[in-house]
Amino acid sequence: MIVAVDGPTASGKGTIARALAAHFALPHLDTGLLYRAVGRQCAVQGGNPDDPADALAACAFPDSLLADPELRSEATGGLASRVSVHPGVRQALYERQRAFALQEGGAVLDGRDIGTVIAPEAEVKLFVVASVPARAERRFREMQAAGRAVSLAEIAADLEARDRRDRTRAEAPLVAASDAVLLDTSDLPREAAIAAAIEIARTKAAALPENRSA
Ligand code: C5P
Repeated sequence: MIVAVDGPTASGKGTIARALAAHFALPHLDTGLLYRAVGRQCAVQGGNPDDPADALAACAFPDSLLADPELRSEATGGLASRVSVHPGVRQALYERQRAFALQEGGAVLDGRDIGTVIAPEAEVKLFVVASVPARAERRFREMQAAGRAVSLAEIAADLEARDRRDRTRAEAPLVAASDAVLLDTSDLPREAAIAAAIEIARTKAAALPENRSA
């Protein structure tokens, strides 16, 4: 079973994807991390993330970079959203994501275009959303816990800028697949959001031909 979890930054999709992977004992790929690695590598190489050639050159990042805590910063998230507009970058990361999705036994992937581009055949598609204030508040608490000094207003402005860039780019924009189930986590505590996602996935999985009793 392939599970696609898409949605904007800080919507709760990462938490939900990890919980679904644990519940169904499936491997999980946070595809945002790949774009973050490209953004970070581009900066390390002194490149311009808005330049397609510089961004493409950064796709050959070393795998060890994926463990760098700097990938989780807001600054790297901004760089990721800038390099991710280039079709060449998306193409360079496509095979890796596609192979992960198609592995024997299935997988859970979270990102922006999993249900639309990477695995349109996914049996379970969730599109996770939340209001900007709810997402900014969550990100603010995460940053505080990590000891990073940022203001709530800065975070909200950054989220909105990234949403705009992700939704309006020509290549693989952030959009719900027509067969995705929308899950709004604005007013849901973490555990309730996870329970709702598991229920959606369980219902979808039960309806699959191989699981239907004759
Ligand atoms: O999900 P995360 O915030 O880590 O993603 C960082 C950026 O990478 C996003 O803002 C988006 O621009 C890009 N991204 C993407 N496609 C994906 C995952 C992430 O374009 N599948």
